[in-house]
Amino acid sequence: MTLPKEKREQAVKRRLSGEPLQYILGEWEFYGLPFLVGEGVLIPRPDTETLIDAVLPLINKDSAVLDLCSGSGAVAVTLKKLKNCTVTALEKSPDALKYLTKNAALNNTDIDIIEGDIFDFSPPQKYDLIVSNPPYIKTEDIKTLQKEVQKEPFMALDGGADGLMFYRKIAQFVPYLKTGGAMAVEIGYDMAKEVAGIFEKAGLRCKILKDLPGNDRVVIGTLL
Ligand SMILES: C[S@@+](CC[C@H](N)C(=O)[O-])C[C@H]1O[C@@H](n2cnc3c(N)ncnc32)[C@H](O)[C@@H]1O
Repeated sequence: MTLPKEKREQAVKRRLSGEPLQYILGEWEFYGLPFLVGEGVLIPRPDTETLIDAVLPLINKDSAVLDLCSGSGAVAVTLKKLKNCTVTALEKSPDALKYLTKNAALNNTDIDIIEGDIFDFSPPQKYDLIVSNPPYIKTEDIKTLQKEVQKEPFMALDGGADGLMFYRKIAQFVPYLKTGGAMAVEIGYDMAKEVAGIFEKAGLRCKILKDLPGNDRVVIGTLL
């Protein structure tokens, strides 16, 4: 389909100003599923597909899954779509929540969406899997990222002074894991040791998994 000249020119202008291509297109694919994206929501990344691959073998249709910091719903919607398990998704940003709701509908998935702050959240039950791709960039490093990434929401990127603020909070949810349950998180390529250390201290036995390019990308902790 060819866009009218005026629309084409607008798209080029937006792109030249550093707006991510995905925002201009308004839709992006994650794990073979369509996701609506735009200003106010993090664009789902191929890195996060490693997290999906890591947790799929751990769950089935009877599993209860909690996805923290859900954003577009890339993780929550994909797990629901592929496993038809019970999925609860927590997200704080009102803008991201709009996309999460639309993406659940777009993919015909019925997930339980909670608007809330992870730092002020008491899970209502225990889960077989707690999963998260939280913000994990060090605050100081955000200004050095490429300009396209800086157009994404600051709160989707900012992991605090050392990038680990969200992992420390997520580890506090270990009491909400069922025995034999797992906690799985995406991590920055250089964070495996610290995040595994935080999770081990909280009582989990940890494994570190790599993404396709060979970087450490996921920490999975199991409650034995
Ligand atoms: C790195 S993004 C990940 C989004 C999505 N899970 C994905 O993989 O594409 C982190 C998300 O955490 C959300 N977030 C940031 N601070 C939060 C908080 N205090 N409580 C809940 N969600 C928060 C952001 O709005 C953003 O959507």
